[in-house]
Amino acid sequence: MRLLHIGDIVGKPGRRAVTDALRGLVEEQRIDFVVANAENSAAGSGLTPANYNELIGAGVNCITLGDHIYRRREIIPLLCNANNIVKPANFPADAPGRTSAIVEARNGVRVGVISLLGRVFMRPVNCPWEAVDRELAGLPAEVRVVMVDFHAEATSDMQLMGRHLAGKVTSVLGTHTHVATADEQILPGGTAFQ
Ligand SMILES: [Fe+2]
Ligand SMILES: [Fe+2]
Repeated sequence: MRLLHIGDIVGKPGRRAVTDALRGLVEEQRIDFVVANAENSAAGSGLTPANYNELIGAGVNCITLGDHIYRRREIIPLLCNANNIVKPANFPADAPGRTSAIVEARNGVRVGVISLLGRVFMRPVNCPWEAVDRELAGLPAEVRVVMVDFHAEATSDMQLMGRHLAGKVTSVLGTHTHVATADEQILPGGTAFQ
C-alpha cells in the first residue's frame, strides 16, 4: 500500500500545485491514500469550504489542520459534519471537529488519521501524548493503517512523538514549520518518520 502525506498547503500557489500535480502523481506512483495538511490553504491562514472542496476534488482523501484551524470560521460546519477532516486531537473536547477519521483508501483499506499539536514554542493545548493514546485505544482493531500528522514547532518534540508511537502507527510525519527536514527514517517497528 502506498501513502502520500502532504505538508502545509499554503495559499493559492499551494492549492494550484495540488490541483495541477496530484492526479498525475497518484497515477504514476500508484498512491492509494493521500493526507494533506490544509491549515494555510486560505490565503495563507485557515481553510474555507471552497478550499476543502477544491482539495478533496483534486484527490486528497483526508485533511488535517493545525494552529490556524479556526481562522476561517465558515469551515466549522464541515469540521463537525464531514468524515474526512480532523481537528488536533489534543484540542479541548468541545472545540468543533472530530478527533480522528477513518477513510477508505483507493484499494479499499480503511485508514485511520490523527492530527496532534505540539506544545514546545507553541500556544497551550492539552497533552498530545495523552490524546494520541486515547485515540489509538478508540480505533477499531481492524484499522491497521494509521497516519499521524504531528503539527509542531520543535524537531525534538517531533522526535519524541516518533519514539512514543514507534511500532504503534504507520507514520508520524511533521507539519507546521513549512520547512522540510532531512531526518526521514523507519523507526523500530516499521513506523515511517520525518
Ligand atoms: Fe502551517
Ligand atoms: Fe501551523
